[in-house]
Amino acid sequence: MLDKFNRRIDYLRISVTDRCNLRCAYCMPDGINKKDHSDILSFEDIRNIVEVFVEKGIRKVRLTGGEPLVRKNIETLVKYLSSFEEIKDLSMTSNGFFLEEKVQVLKDNGLDRFNISLDSLEFEKYKKISKNGDLKKVLRGIYKAKSLGMGVKINCVLIKGINEDEVLDFIEFSKKNDLGLRFIELMPIGKTQDFARDNFLSSDDIVKKYELKRIENPDKNSPTSLYKMKDSDFKIGFIDPLSHRFCSTCNRLRITSDGFIRPCLHSDVKIDLKEGLDDREKLSELIDISLYKKPLRHYLEEGSISESMNRIGG
Ligand code: GTP
Ligand code: 5AD
Ligand code: SF4
Repeated sequence: MLDKFNRRIDYLRISVTDRCNLRCAYCMPDGINKKDHSDILSFEDIRNIVEVFVEKGIRKVRLTGGEPLVRKNIETLVKYLSSFEEIKDLSMTSNGFFLEEKVQVLKDNGLDRFNISLDSLEFEKYKKISKNGDLKKVLRGIYKAKSLGMGVKINCVLIKGINEDEVLDFIEFSKKNDLGLRFIELMPIGKTQDFARDNFLSSDDIVKKYELKRIENPDKNSPTSLYKMKDSDFKIGFIDPLSHRFCSTCNRLRITSDGFIRPCLHSDVKIDLKEGLDDREKLSELIDISLYKKPLRHYLEEGSISESMNRIGG
């Protein structure tokens, strides 16, 4: 699949719920409206939609939320999706709270790897950032996933004055436990945009402070810039859409839990897939429309904010 700007699209991010058991300060403010269960796509709907996407060239699928592990029987969807031979990489982005309970069945049903959101390695601070989080429990889940041989990356959102003193701790922790690591710049999006602007910490500041050296990322479509420290080969990733825009190599589309394609995380353009749920040709047409409508780039600097992260899945 090529979009209007000739970008090859082979990555689909599927948000399976807008609900989450946590309330991270930068993502879900209190009192956010939740979608009604009746508005949410069923697993069969998702399977039918993915079948059309796969025919059109999707090879990588990620399940997101809200928190994907709060969706009941999510392992059933994983089983459906892992049966598509064309999907070479099936992954999930999670806050890790329910990982220890779910990791075995998810692996058994064909999930390849996890990205886990973790913004502090200090128990009290973690609780404060995530509101209800339990760091010990998340760590048990991560260790269990590793012991089962699964790939795990840590997503750490940089928050000024809150976790900037933990950069070296995250590097040590990830190195020691054979985890991938990405530091993510706070993005002003949805209702938490003021928090993101007030607490923004640029990746450039971290790179400068620790004298990190840029290295090449072999995955040309990845939004992650890779760096290393002088005395170590450990790869430190940054996802920094404000400092280093990566839209020109964007390879992804998103589906929200209520059945819209979001061609870009930071745009309000959305295409309602529900019109085509019983008609594959219509679905295919709607996907083509979303390719045509995929914007060239985000306009964060100009003040575009889009919907909340928990609705779109990051
Ligand atoms: P990998 O397949 O392991 O590279 O995962 P990923 O980085 O594609 O997915 P993940 O859900 O872990 O996303 C990490 C961070 O990147 C999250 O904060 C996302 O919101 C952000 N992100 C993912 N895709 C995009 C994008 O297209 N644009 C922007 N601005 N941010 C993105
Ligand atoms: N800016 C940057 N990252 C965010 N995430 C959620 N909200 C934001 C934001 N405003 C991250 C989560 C998770 C991923 C899906 O997106 O921490 O790792
Ligand atoms: Fe939940 Fe993830 Fe949002 Fe935190 S960032 S509130 S864990 S969806």
